[in-house]
Amino acid sequence: MLHLILQERVQAAVQAVLPDVTAAALASVQVLPATDPRFGDLQCNALMGLAKQRRLNPRQLATEVVARLDVADLCAPVEIAGAGFLNFRLLPAAVAHVLGSAAAAQLFCPPTATPRTVVIDFSSPNVAKPMHVGHIRSTGIGDALQRIFRRLGHRVISDNHLGDWGTQFGKLIIGWQRHLDPAALAADPIAELERLYKVVNAACDADPAVLEAARHELVKLQQGDPANLAIWQEMIRLSKVQFDSVYGRLGVRFDHTLGESFYNPQLAGVVSDLLASGVARESAGAIAVFSERRPELPPKEDPLLVQKDGEWVDVPALIQKGDGGFNYTTTDLATIDYRLKNWAPAEILYVVDDRQSGHFRSLFHVFHRWQPGAATHTRLRHIGFGKILGDDGKPFKTRSGDTIRLVDLMDEAEVRALKVVTEKRPELPEPQKVEIARIVGLGAVKWQDLLPNRESDYQFSWDKMLALQGNTSPYVQYQYTRATKVVRDSGGIPTATGDLELPHAAEIVLAKHLLAFGQTLEKVAEECRPNFLCNYLYELASTFSRFYEACPVLKPEIIGVTRTTRLVLCQLTAQVLREGLDCLGIEVSEVM
Ligand code: ARG
Repeated sequence: MLHLILQERVQAAVQAVLPDVTAAALASVQVLPATDPRFGDLQCNALMGLAKQRRLNPRQLATEVVARLDVADLCAPVEIAGAGFLNFRLLPAAVAHVLGSAAAAQLFCPPTATPRTVVIDFSSPNVAKPMHVGHIRSTGIGDALQRIFRRLGHRVISDNHLGDWGTQFGKLIIGWQRHLDPAALAADPIAELERLYKVVNAACDADPAVLEAARHELVKLQQGDPANLAIWQEMIRLSKVQFDSVYGRLGVRFDHTLGESFYNPQLAGVVSDLLASGVARESAGAIAVFSERRPELPPKEDPLLVQKDGEWVDVPALIQKGDGGFNYTTTDLATIDYRLKNWAPAEILYVVDDRQSGHFRSLFHVFHRWQPGAATHTRLRHIGFGKILGDDGKPFKTRSGDTIRLVDLMDEAEVRALKVVTEKRPELPEPQKVEIARIVGLGAVKWQDLLPNRESDYQFSWDKMLALQGNTSPYVQYQYTRATKVVRDSGGIPTATGDLELPHAAEIVLAKHLLAFGQTLEKVAEECRPNFLCNYLYELASTFSRFYEACPVLKPEIIGVTRTTRLVLCQLTAQVLREGLDCLGIEVSEVM
């Protein structure tokens, strides 16, 4: 790609000016998309940093680098701006050339030269509870990230950390023994499990004897009682069947589904290790990790301290309760240990609700005290996100105030999309309309969720997400169908294309935007922000639409290299839109 070719040449010029420059300093000299198109297409901001390190005048350094820089075949004379920025304006001929070779090799996004192993922990619903609307967030963001990292050539290990263990199973087992309705269980297992839990929970509040019985069943389960283990396993099996049907519809796959219970055998070892190394200690019968109150770590950066009435007080990480039970943190510590030993990842991403950010801060901190060497190999990152709100600005619920089940939401998306499709294309056969509605409906839900900055809350709106105009997936999917249709109707693109030509402004804008696909994916991966890709694709779709209006392709008077260039632009637009949407887990339809 052009930015890489330019980057190599800038680095070569830097090396010519500063023969003793280190490899690391040279690698920091990058050519990136211009933040403001008024300054050109690409820019290099690295010379100021380099000049500062070496106590040189940054403008002077920039001038010397530019003097050694031979890029006349790629861009207009390089402009030095401000304190030493380099701005590059690409020549249409250079863009056309790269476009032609990209079209031939289908290469907009070459695999990374430095592949890493990335573990992505996402979705992770709790057994015996339905997946609700909130799960679309972790599932959609996590899936987009796994697709994008894979597309870039990284080794991804996705792991669904199911909540399949915990004190709720005492109550669930009592419910199963005393109140199970087999017909209801057969019809909708998770709804029945949810009902059982509610019944027993209410009974526990009313009668301490029930609570005691639930505790007793929990202890039996923890000690390996075969009957209780069998009930518990059946609950997991039934829950997984329902989860899998949701994942199937959403097109989401995991490499592993190692639930919390998988780590049970390790937990006692984790606690004894932490005790032996002095990281944890006993406190009021429980075992916990306290702040070290070391001067190097300012209290406000210490996740194990909180300010109360002007003083810093402990919020220790609990790892074993007074009754011997283990905590969420204990399981998560064992999980990191397992992942490091088995997969040696460069990075573990936790795609989890922002309400758990405190948990992850203290988890990572405790883990690094437990295994101080690990930080140099593995980066632990919480990829947090905000809430989904209803029209009233409060968390999105049904009218009666219940949480919205994800299956119901997906069904409704398809029904609503079918109405739109039926209005627009009444002549299509019914099964085709249904299939388009599935693709459009589910795509719209995912896009709406991926589009906002992930930390922001957003307002759920059927009308907005299904609109055919504006920054929505139906709009982007529709531009895809227009672009592929041109290619289909053309009867094929001549293969020996030779050099393309981009005389029209709308052509060059579209071409440059296409070339930025790979860099956009890299930016998404760096910051774990799929919204960058949504915005890129929306921009691409609208740029294509403007091109399509300004530049006819299949009119008889459009011939030769003009026709070929425009066809290539349509074909590449279709390809990048399809691949880009696929990176977001969104399908396309050839007809809409
Ligand atoms: N099951 C948890 C919940 O529903 C999410 C788990 C996230 N992953 C983790 N390793 N803690 O809140």
